[in-house]
Amino acid sequence: MKPSPDQGVVASHLVQTYPVGRTIFGRGEQFRAVDGVSFHLEQGETLGIVGESGSGKSTLGRMIAGIEAPTSGDVTFWGQRYAPVGAAQWRRQRRLVQMVFQNPAAVVDPRWTIHAQVREALTTHETLARAEADHRAQEMLALVGLGTMGNRLPHQLSGGQLQRAVIARALVLQPKLLVCDEAVSALDVSVQAQIINLLLELRDRLQLSLLFISHDLSVVRHISHRVGVMYRGQLLEIGDARTLFEAPQHNYTRRLLAAIPADTPRQRRERDLKTFAALP
Ligand SMILES: Nc1ncnc2c1ncn2[C@@H]1O[C@H](COP(=O)(O)OP(=O)(O)OP(=O)(O)O)[C@@H](O)[C@H]1O
Ligand SMILES: [Mg+2]
Repeated sequence: MKPSPDQGVVASHLVQTYPVGRTIFGRGEQFRAVDGVSFHLEQGETLGIVGESGSGKSTLGRMIAGIEAPTSGDVTFWGQRYAPVGAAQWRRQRRLVQMVFQNPAAVVDPRWTIHAQVREALTTHETLARAEADHRAQEMLALVGLGTMGNRLPHQLSGGQLQRAVIARALVLQPKLLVCDEAVSALDVSVQAQIINLLLELRDRLQLSLLFISHDLSVVRHISHRVGVMYRGQLLEIGDARTLFEAPQHNYTRRLLAAIPADTPRQRRERDLKTFAALP
C-alpha cells in the first residue's frame, strides 16, 4: 500500500523518554522507551506490533492513540496533527481513536449494565435523544454478539464477553483508529479466536485502521496486513506480514520467531491441554 497522509496515521520520528532515578547533581538520566519510530498506517489496514517485553510497544501505542504526548516527533491523524493533550480539539480527536487493553474488567464500571456503559460512551460525545442513544447502543451490542446481554452487569459476563462489551463501547463512537494493546492476551485460545474474528469483521465493515500490539506472534500474523518489530525502543523491521514471517531480515526477528512454537490455534490448544494434564 502506498502512504497517503490524509487517510490514516503517520508517525514521524517518535521519541518517548522517561526519567530514571536522579543523581545528586540534579537532572536524572533519561531512558528512551521509544527511540525514533516512523511508520504509516492506512485506513482499513492492520499493523501488528511485536517485540519482547519492555521494547516499547505500549508506549508507542499510547502515543499513536494520542493519550501520551511524545517527547519529540509527531503523529498526523487523517492529515491533522494531534492537538496538545487536554485541549478542546484534542477531545474531539479522542473520540476518533479508541484503545482496547488486556483487562476489560479494569476499564468498565462494575455497577452499570453494559448497555448503559455503551450508551454513556455515546452520549458523552453526542447530544442524542434517549431513544436514539438506546437504539445505537443496542445495535452495537448486537454487532459484537451481545444483543441479548445488554442488561447484564460486568460480573455477569465471561472475560471474552466483557472484552466484546469493551469493543462495543469503543466502536459505538465510530472511531477511525483502534489501538489494541494485548487485547486478547488474557483470554482462552478459543475465545481469542472469536475476538480476533470479530475485530477482522468490524475492521472490514467499518473501514477501521488497527494498531494491534501483542506478544503472540501467531495472533499477530493472522490479523495483520503488515507487522513491525520493536527492539529496545526502535522499529527494527517493518513489512508485509507474510514476507516478514517467512523471510525476516534481521537476526533479532529470526530469534523472536524461533522462540514461538509455530502451530495452529488447534495444535496450541492441544498442547495446552497436554501441559495441563501433565501437571500434578
Ligand atoms: N510511565 C513510565 N515511566 C517510566 N518508565 C516507563 C513508563 N512507561 C514505560 N516505561 C519503561 O519503558 C520501557 C518500555 O515499556 P513498554 O510498556 O512500552 O514496553 P512493552 O513493549 O509494552 O512491554 P510488555 O510487552 O511487557 O507490555 C520499559 O522499560 C518500561 O519500564
Ligand atoms: Mg505493553
